[in-house]
Amino acid sequence: MKLLKMRHHFAIPVFSLLLGISALSCLSLAYAQSKADEKFPTRPISLIVPFAAGGPTDIVARLIAVPMGKSLGETIIVENVLGAGGTVAANKVAKAKPDGYTLFIYHIGMATAPALNDKLAYDPMKDFEYIGQVVDVPMVLLARKDFPPNNLKELIAYLKKNEKKVTMANAGPGAVSQLCGLVFMDAIGVKLTTIPYKGTGPAFNDLLGGQVDLLCDQTTQTLPFIKSDKVKTYGVTTPKRLPSIPNIPTLDESGLKGFDVKVWHGIYAPKGTPAPVLKKLNTALKAALSDPTIKARMDESSIDIVPMAKVSEQGLKDHLEKEINRWGPLIRKANIPD
Ligand code: MLT
Repeated sequence: MKLLKMRHHFAIPVFSLLLGISALSCLSLAYAQSKADEKFPTRPISLIVPFAAGGPTDIVARLIAVPMGKSLGETIIVENVLGAGGTVAANKVAKAKPDGYTLFIYHIGMATAPALNDKLAYDPMKDFEYIGQVVDVPMVLLARKDFPPNNLKELIAYLKKNEKKVTMANAGPGAVSQLCGLVFMDAIGVKLTTIPYKGTGPAFNDLLGGQVDLLCDQTTQTLPFIKSDKVKTYGVTTPKRLPSIPNIPTLDESGLKGFDVKVWHGIYAPKGTPAPVLKKLNTALKAALSDPTIKARMDESSIDIVPMAKVSEQGLKDHLEKEINRWGPLIRKANIPD
């Protein structure tokens, strides 16, 4: 009994001591973390691109990685993680260590993938931090150079007659080339054979080589080939013509009323990336997008840098949510298979 009492007397101070030690170690961990955040970055950062190298997303990523890295004082290494319309990469980033050393650039696919793929292993609204929107890119409906129809009217008539024979390339479910192709096929009431690639970089090469017939792709990589007549161009997907190719009509004015697909891009980090680190990354992104040489390069491809208010956590998060609500019901109504 006496012994028990003695133990009890000792227990309280020992318990308090343990509490004190654990509080101290929490404080010192928090202090170490805040010091690490202050010093960030101290080693190269990975920017994950979910499509093939040389394609539209890769080009935008590599353009901004250089000035972003310069302003952070560390290299940003672009890493291509391919597959399933960008969702393999998105899943990898969602599960990566949230320390600021893994970043992710993804386009409108971040909003369309959940409706295109019921088995998605991540949630775009819960598993990421939002660094900011980047650019908006128009698309163009293209065919191989020797494809018979010469304008949209002829193309629609041709596709209705040859539905089973014509192939349309895309970059998989979640890819904007797939979305654009689906909107187009739905608008004219045909179902073409689609050929998935790991990005529109390789898909466009095959279009140039004549291995596939049609592709809806971004202006980022296609403008020089449109201007030099290496492909047939039926129309731009935005409501207005593009200053860089003023002779190409919009799909809307050629008869597909309301056709409006523009590709927005955002930069993300895994959920839990510390706020001070996100702030530094956002500042670097803003600096990159304000760089006149970047602006000139984007202009060449009819790419619009978004207004600075959208280069923000809230700007990207709000836009993503709006786009999920815009495309989700449309895609589900069209009953598009996974
Ligand atoms: C790419 O970079 O390959 C494209 O953005 C793919 C696509 O979404 O069509």
